[in-house]
This record gives sequence, C-alpha cells and structure tokens, in this order.
Amino acid sequence: MHTCSGVSCARLQRRNQKRGRLAKEINILGIETSCDETAAAVVADGRNIKSSIVASQIRLHAEFGGVVPEIASRAHIENIYPVIAEALARAGVQKGDIDAVAIANQPGLVVALIVGLTAAKTLAFAWEVPLIAVNHVHAHLQSAMLEEETLDLPAVALIVSGGHTNLYRCTSPLDLTLIGSTVDDAAGEAFDKVATILQLGYPGGPVIEKTAKSGNPKAIDFPRSMLDRESLNFSFSGIKTAVLYYCRGQDMKGADRVASMTPQEIADIAASFQAAVVDVLVKKTKRAAEQTQAKTVLLGGGVAANTALRNALQEMCDRTGRRLLIAPRPLCTDNAAMVASLAYHKFLAGEFADLDLEAKATS
Ligand code: KG4
Ligand code: ZN
Repeated sequence: MHTCSGVSCARLQRRNQKRGRLAKEINILGIETSCDETAAAVVADGRNIKSSIVASQIRLHAEFGGVVPEIASRAHIENIYPVIAEALARAGVQKGDIDAVAIANQPGLVVALIVGLTAAKTLAFAWEVPLIAVNHVHAHLQSAMLEEETLDLPAVALIVSGGHTNLYRCTSPLDLTLIGSTVDDAAGEAFDKVATILQLGYPGGPVIEKTAKSGNPKAIDFPRSMLDRESLNFSFSGIKTAVLYYCRGQDMKGADRVASMTPQEIADIAASFQAAVVDVLVKKTKRAAEQTQAKTVLLGGGVAANTALRNALQEMCDRTGRRLLIAPRPLCTDNAAMVASLAYHKFLAGEFADLDLEAKATS
C-alpha cells in the first residue's frame, strides 16, 4: 500500500482545496469484476448510492453449470466501459466529480479481476485521482452496514457467497479478523452443486430456495458437519455428497433416479438440504457471537439473499438479544456499491494503492 497513486499527495491536496472538496461529499467510483458480474457504482460518503450498475453473465455460464473463467473475462472486456459509463450517467456525475476509483482486486478469478483492475488503474491515472484496492469478501460485509449510522461493536460478520463462507470479528469496517472459514466447499458452492445434482439449473441458490418452498425441511436428515467441535470452521462437501448418494444410491449407479423423482421428492430434498446448511450457519454464527461477546451480527454475500437463512438468523438474534443487520437483497450478490462504500473508509484513512497493484486469486 502507498499513500497515493497516479497523483502526488501535494497535488491531490491542492486539487481538493481548489475545489473545496474536503468540505463537500466524497464521490467514489467502485468497480467489480471478480467473478461473473461486471459492476460499477458511484457512492457518496460511503453510504449514498448514487448509481449501482450490474451486468450479469448468468445466461452465458448457465449452459456450463458454472462460471467458465475465459468466458467471464471476455464478457467483462465487452461490458466494462458501457457499465462504467452508465454508472456515471445515472449518478449524474462527470469525471471531475470523482474523488477516487476503487477496485476489488482480490480474491476472485484472476482473468476476470484483471479486466476491472486495468480499467480502474487507467481511470485513476487519467483523472488524476487515487486508486483504492478493496478485498471483495470484506466489501460484502460493507453491504450489511452501509445504511447504519452507528454500530454496536464488536460485531460478528457471516459472509456466505459462492466462493467463501467466512466468520469475522469486526471492530470497524477496516478492522476484520477472520475467526472461521470453510475447510472445503463454500455454502453457495454447495447450493450450486446440489442444484446441478437435482437438475434444477444454475445458479443453484435461488432455484433451490424456490423449490424448497413446497418441500418438507424435515423429510431427510442430511448431516450437519463439524457442529460437534469447538471450532468456528465449516464443511459443506459432506452434505453435498450425502445429497448425491441419496439421489443415486451408495453405489452411485442410480443416475437416472433424479429424472424419475416426483416434484414433491425433489422439493423435499431441496428443503432438507437448505435446512441443514442454514442450521450449521446459524449455530456457528451463534457460537462465534458468544466467543467474541458480539452484540451485533452482520450478514452478507450471495447466500444472504436466502429467506430461510435470514429468518433463522433473525430468530437466533432475537432469542439471544443481539442485533442483526442484513445486506439489502440487491446488495447481497456481487455489486460495486459495496466496493465504493468500503473504499470510502480507506479514503479517509489515506490507504491508497500504487498503479502497479496486482490481481490476486486469494485473500
Ligand atoms: O456473492 P456472490 O454473488 O458471488 C461470490 O462472491 O461468490 O454469491 C453467489 C452465490 C452463488 O453460489 C448463488 O447460488 C448464491 O450466492 N445465492 C444463493 C441465493 N442467491 C444467490 N444461495 C442461496 N439462496 C439464495 N437465494
Ligand atoms: Zn461475492
């Protein structure tokens, strides 16, 4: 990290003084291309979302049952400038109104990250504003606290997405300590894989949730992995395998059984699977809140859109006297408003990136 990028500190100060910008709002352009969404947003002062544009590639990847990195990369290249242009237009701002450009440079698919990163560097350089590097998973957490004026900290944050299932102790937007994570599949990944097993399509989360509505969550007792241990880590590959064995038999020779199942049988599997995942997520979050004496629980990431999870976590928080803050649904899945919002805190802290910033697959 460095204090400035593409523009010297003295120049930045002079520029801000000239515009009187320090007394005015801080507009940050956020860019997000870590996986299969090309997104750009303009957020003022970390909380006022002036625009948030998301170009989803779901249609392109659906036929492959998952994200194909090369296809994602090419689609980002096609979408990135129209998406940024629309974010600026919808926000009613011009390049001179932007105080910094923020980019999620990790974690994610490097071939995808690099597209947004290159655009962000180019704009920061051309507009002579700082570049701010943001961790994509940390930004998901920002979606849950974006609308809050005050937070009772420390908080415990559960971030559940297609690539991550993380528990953090959070003492400020910039101060997160990882206290638990998955040892194998992420929760969203399990939803996606189980949807593939049940031949429900991609992405799995929304379609499993919809299918589960008419199912019995107690029909099948799928395993709740790693609940017996003290640790705050998760494991979801066992439950995915249990669904697979349930559908195809222990010898894995019954591949056609899913095709011949009734809609009710499929719904019961979806509901029982969802109940098992939610059960584990809620119990581990409760344990994390107890261990860290957190009064606030934050929930973000794509799987946070799931109503069963939202309700179960709310019920746990009500029962244990904790406050739950959940990301609004449009901000649960990947977006750039969360990137710009987290970047605001880095802007205030003077945490700017150099123009040789790299994309990284991992956190
Ligand atoms: O945060 P996100 O958009 O991308 C990553 O950073 O991974 O999360 C995408 C994940 C996918 O695995 C998707 O199936 C899951 O979030 N998801 C859901 C729901 N909506 C999206 N999972 C469960 N229930 C949902 N309603
Ligand atoms: Zn994400």
